[in-house]
Amino acid sequence: MRTTVAIIGAGPAGLLLARLLHRAGVDCVVLEARDRAYVERRQRAGMLEQGAADVLRECGAGDRLDREGLVHRGFELRFEGEAHRVDLPSLTGGRTVTLYPQTEVVKDLIALQLADGPPLLFGARVVAVEKTDGEQPLIRFVTEEPDGTDRTDGTDGTDGAEGPSGPAGPAGPERTLECEYVAGCDGSYGASRRALPPGAVRMHARTYPYSWLGILADVAPSSDELLLAGHERGFALHSMRTPALSRLYIQVPNGTSPGDWPDDRIWDELDVRLAAGGWRLQRGPVLTKSVSGLRSQVIEPMRHGRLLLAGDAAHIVPPSAAKGLNLAFGDVVTMARAFTHWHRSGSTSLIDRYSDNCLRRVWQAQAFSHEMTTLLHTPPGADAYDRAMQLTRLRRLTGPTAAAAELAENYAGAPLI
Ligand code: APR
Repeated sequence: MRTTVAIIGAGPAGLLLARLLHRAGVDCVVLEARDRAYVERRQRAGMLEQGAADVLRECGAGDRLDREGLVHRGFELRFEGEAHRVDLPSLTGGRTVTLYPQTEVVKDLIALQLADGPPLLFGARVVAVEKTDGEQPLIRFVTEEPDGTDRTDGTDGTDGAEGPSGPAGPAGPERTLECEYVAGCDGSYGASRRALPPGAVRMHARTYPYSWLGILADVAPSSDELLLAGHERGFALHSMRTPALSRLYIQVPNGTSPGDWPDDRIWDELDVRLAAGGWRLQRGPVLTKSVSGLRSQVIEPMRHGRLLLAGDAAHIVPPSAAKGLNLAFGDVVTMARAFTHWHRSGSTSLIDRYSDNCLRRVWQAQAFSHEMTTLLHTPPGADAYDRAMQLTRLRRLTGPTAAAAELAENYAGAPLI
């Protein structure tokens, strides 16, 4: 097999890149280790910045998003028993965010690609990415028949933490794909990271001293907007998956098992941490319960030779500011623009600037996600001084200040096109 750009991974990054390149007339192929059902069922992020939603619309993948997505014009920060609403349009010149599950984004992009191209091979697990220093990188992959095992790991995977894409079933013969460039969109455990020679990149990493216990509950949300609570007992988040399903999280110590928290204990803790005025949280049957860690990672540069990394393959952010999916989109818009420029002009100038152009946005999102995490979570051993620092910063962010505008700008994100 042969193509111009080999895309590894059919998550949001790989699928959007394929769509953008296909529309620009750049030949590409997507290789995805898992089967379609697994990829479409994987619960992950759920909030699109204005820029990400606009990219989906622009590339023809916005119809269901516009019909079913929940447009949010603000969110609340809650602390000291008070609710502080942050209005996005008035602080950002009109921008909003849209809640639309990542599973639905993936389904929409897969449906478009299967109908219109480019080739999308499921069950194609890349085992090696070679010759990225040369002119003709080589991808080695094996095709695996889904063995029917239900691999929904039930986790929300909010930080994208998914183990290595292990074999799905009996592996067929090894096949090869020749290409001119490789787009590593295969997440933080993929083959692309393994293809980076030792010393070729710097890895910045941070693991936070707490985790999130997340539940999906069969009850209508108790608020139309996201509620983020920075309680001294710990963080809590009220979100929603659909108008009938609530998604809620509480900070728990690292090493917590979902079994440590019976449903009633979770609801009681959510009541305490989200309390504000007379607001009441509606309870309902808990459908899924999972614990995931919070971590940050950045790989610099996001390129080695003819291998360019995007999305979770290049960086991980803690879920506190819902930046993972939006960062992945920003990377592939930049990458698609670079490959298209090269395809049409022969110039590699944008490819050569790809990593620097992405990293400015990546570090901005890292800084914002880090601030929202440390501001709203209570680390082990925190004392009254630490709490005073948090409250002082929270009061500035929710007052009529420039800090509030910066918060809204970071939350709503910058335009991508
Ligand atoms: N060969 C082929 N495909 C692979 C391989 C491999 N060796 N390793 C991993 N993959 C596939 C995975 O099965 C997955 O479908 O790559 C895809 C990577 O998708 P994501 O993990 O969703 O990463 P990305 O597209 O960058 O999207 C980032 O997902 O993890 C969340 O919070 C994160 O919302 C953000 C988004």
